[in-house]
Amino acid sequence: MDLKNYVTIVPDYPREGISFKDISTIMDNGKAYKYATDEIVKYAKEVGTDIIVGPEARGFIIGCPVAYALEVGFAPVRKPGKLPRETIKVEYDLEYGTDTLTIHKDAIKPGQRVLIVDDLLATGGTVGATIELVEKLGGIVAGCAFIIELSYLNGREKLKGYDMRALINY
Ligand code: PRP
Repeated sequence: MDLKNYVTIVPDYPREGISFKDISTIMDNGKAYKYATDEIVKYAKEVGTDIIVGPEARGFIIGCPVAYALEVGFAPVRKPGKLPRETIKVEYDLEYGTDTLTIHKDAIKPGQRVLIVDDLLATGGTVGATIELVEKLGGIVAGCAFIIELSYLNGREKLKGYDMRALINY
């Protein structure tokens, strides 16, 4: 299946000049959604996965069915104030300003092999911060999986040394 056929390009969203890659047209097609999930499940088995970690919000949509298929857990990474128990946080740079991501302190056990899953790799800021959270908790980043990689933004450069898999490249 050529998954690229199910991505919708939305011009000038969220701002003029940006061509947004909308994965909701993968999600609303049962066969495409299953195909994307199965491909990430295969990768997860290749690298060895004890738990899936996904950043909000689209990382949940991709990561949870993978966790279900593998019969492993899923730990959410969220913006500040959204997780009810004790968390750790990492701040990361945006184009303008900074952002913060958090995870529950007990979400990952030291030594667990973690697969980080998100819909899109752009600048790599989100996944870079997620890697830091996982490693702060003693987890081992087994790999990072995405539906889409925007190669021209060089996110991979920032994440040298980590195994990455993207199903679609632009
Ligand atoms: C988008 C996307 C990734 C991130 C990628 O999330 O879902 O998580 O940006 O960009 P980066 O590689 O430059 O960090 P967004 O911040 O729009 O959050 P959302 O999924 O909650 O809408």
